[in-house]
Amino acid sequence: MTIRDLIKQGYEFLEGAENAVLNCEVVLANVLGVEKEYLIAHSDQEIGGDSEFSEDLADLYMAYLKKVKSGEPVAYILKEKEFYGLNFYVDNRVLVPRPETEQLVETILNYLEEKYGVKRGNREFESDAEKFRILDVGTGSGNIAISLATNFQNLEAVALDLKDEALEVARVNVNQHGVEDRVELYQSDLLDVIDEGEKFHVIVANLPYIGTKTNADVEENVEKYEPGSALFAGEDGLDLYLKMFQQIEEKNVGYEMIVGEFGSMQRKDMEILLDNFFEQRWRIEKDLAGLDRMFVVMG
Ligand SMILES: C[S@@+](CC[C@H](N)C(=O)[O-])C[C@H]1O[C@@H](n2cnc3c(N)ncnc32)[C@H](O)[C@@H]1O
Repeated sequence: MTIRDLIKQGYEFLEGAENAVLNCEVVLANVLGVEKEYLIAHSDQEIGGDSEFSEDLADLYMAYLKKVKSGEPVAYILKEKEFYGLNFYVDNRVLVPRPETEQLVETILNYLEEKYGVKRGNREFESDAEKFRILDVGTGSGNIAISLATNFQNLEAVALDLKDEALEVARVNVNQHGVEDRVELYQSDLLDVIDEGEKFHVIVANLPYIGTKTNADVEENVEKYEPGSALFAGEDGLDLYLKMFQQIEEKNVGYEMIVGEFGSMQRKDMEILLDNFFEQRWRIEKDLAGLDRMFVVMG
């Protein structure tokens, strides 16, 4: 059986479900320990027999596809998810990082580049360069803080999460990406551990924002497999952002920019909230699908 045959067999097994080919490719590449592009370039390669890839791997591939068919997120099955060009360890202790969230990272990198005249991806340490301080609230797998830290050597992040088990996953990723000296992880209910008057260049948050009443149409498999503590935030879904803004105000936490993600159905409520705390200093941006997704507050 060749790589091509296995993809076809997997596709038929998944009965042409959404993303069936992509899921087969991602799973097979992971099982064989190769890049996805390898599958296309070597589609006639045999699995089993004298091949470097044993028959067992084809069995494992089909076992994983059974889980895919039952609705389990591919990222949890493979224990990995790509985010902003990096590989993150994930399991059901954290939300699977979503592509929409990459826009938050991009916005922050753009801001720092433009304001401070620095270039992302510069891995040289410039000792006299401005040190950037980022606060990441609700860090989950650590995907946002780590993506930022890997782009600027002079960036330090304080990453907070309510859940110890999420922080355990973030710790794995911090170590895997070698940023343990620049990404500090703390258990904290929102900004509880942040001192009065602390200053950050950017505060970023992708807090739970699904409303139990107003926005309850969560996909069945999301609710079934992903942690509820990463999804829901009160009746209208904005409870945690309200509390976060209150804490920033009460503790007089300094920032140049706050960036956060919210649900496209919440624009009206989010506008009222932003107006209450930040008057005219905010804007809302859409994601690549054209849906309202991100707020940006300027300090
Ligand atoms: C939507 S997930 C986002 C995870 C990650 N930042 C991302 O973008 O993929 C929200 C995270 O916020 C955490 N969280 C929920 N309530 C919190 C609170 N009161 N204080 C701090 N973190 C909280 C959850 O445990 C979860 O890891």
